[in-house]
Amino acid sequence: MTLVGVAVGAALAIVAVFIPWLPDAASEQADIIDSVYWVVTIICVVVFAVVAGVSAYAVYKFRAPPGDTDDGSPIHGHTGLEIVWTLIPTILVTGIAVYSGVALAQAEDLPDDHSVIQVTGQQFAWTFTYPDVEVEGDRPLTTGELVVPIDQTIRFEITSKDVIHSFWVPEWRMKQDAVNGITTHTTVTPTQLGTFPVVCTELCGLGHALMRSRARVLSQSDYEAWVEEQQRLAREGGAIQGMELFTQQCGSCHTLADAGTEGEVGPNLDEALQGADAEFIMESIVNPSAEIAEGFQDGVMPANYGEMYTDPQLESLVEYLQQATGGGAR
Ligand code: CUA
Repeated sequence: MTLVGVAVGAALAIVAVFIPWLPDAASEQADIIDSVYWVVTIICVVVFAVVAGVSAYAVYKFRAPPGDTDDGSPIHGHTGLEIVWTLIPTILVTGIAVYSGVALAQAEDLPDDHSVIQVTGQQFAWTFTYPDVEVEGDRPLTTGELVVPIDQTIRFEITSKDVIHSFWVPEWRMKQDAVNGITTHTTVTPTQLGTFPVVCTELCGLGHALMRSRARVLSQSDYEAWVEEQQRLAREGGAIQGMELFTQQCGSCHTLADAGTEGEVGPNLDEALQGADAEFIMESIVNPSAEIAEGFQDGVMPANYGEMYTDPQLESLVEYLQQATGGGAR
């Protein structure tokens, strides 16, 4: 049993050490978290090797000869040995706790010139609000994808509209629960340009596996251009924006062939909205309780899209849905 354990443990250790299974480290905080991770892993591998090695040796060396059914001779404990094997783990665990605490404090360190983005989780989509970016109608910019400038420290203020979700961009490492009624925080300084997944890592219901978005890290100038484009879209609308909003906010729950989404939490919109007029579609978005599709429950779809988005944004969404389901002119 022990030999099998050692063999499997050794094989797993080789997999752990030689396969690059951590995602890219794309933030300043990621380097700190990875250091803690590897220090703890190496300590675990050493402790495992010693314990398994001594066990395997003892099993082989002190095994009973064939036919020996006697009890072993009584032994007295070894006080020195017991002190040693209590002291070593105490020192190791205390050391790991102190080291992790210092690393976490470093990772959460917030420079004065940071910016703030509010993250809201709800079944089953993420919404990102930029309190410092104003759009049409004195509202803060709200999007379904996270767009940030490189090398800028961001303080994420995280909350939930319903159950507990968990906000995580694996490449950034920092992970934080989104809890209804309170605001939690995490700090990230992205150091790599590119597109990364935003995932929910707390089992939150039927659509949990599809509760994903994406984080795009842009250069400072591209970021500013993006902000201006968002302000223009929030003012002017348009079906292209509608399709983006749909994919980011609605696709994890609703199937729509045109957008290539396959969510099954809410009604299939290719069927439910076929030939529907703009008024019905708008009502279904801002007041989802008005009419419930057969076989579905009231209260599942969030009722706050009317508050989160500007009228031109909502109209874009309606325009797109009408086109995509054959109700309006293409
Ligand atoms: Cu939200 Cu899992």
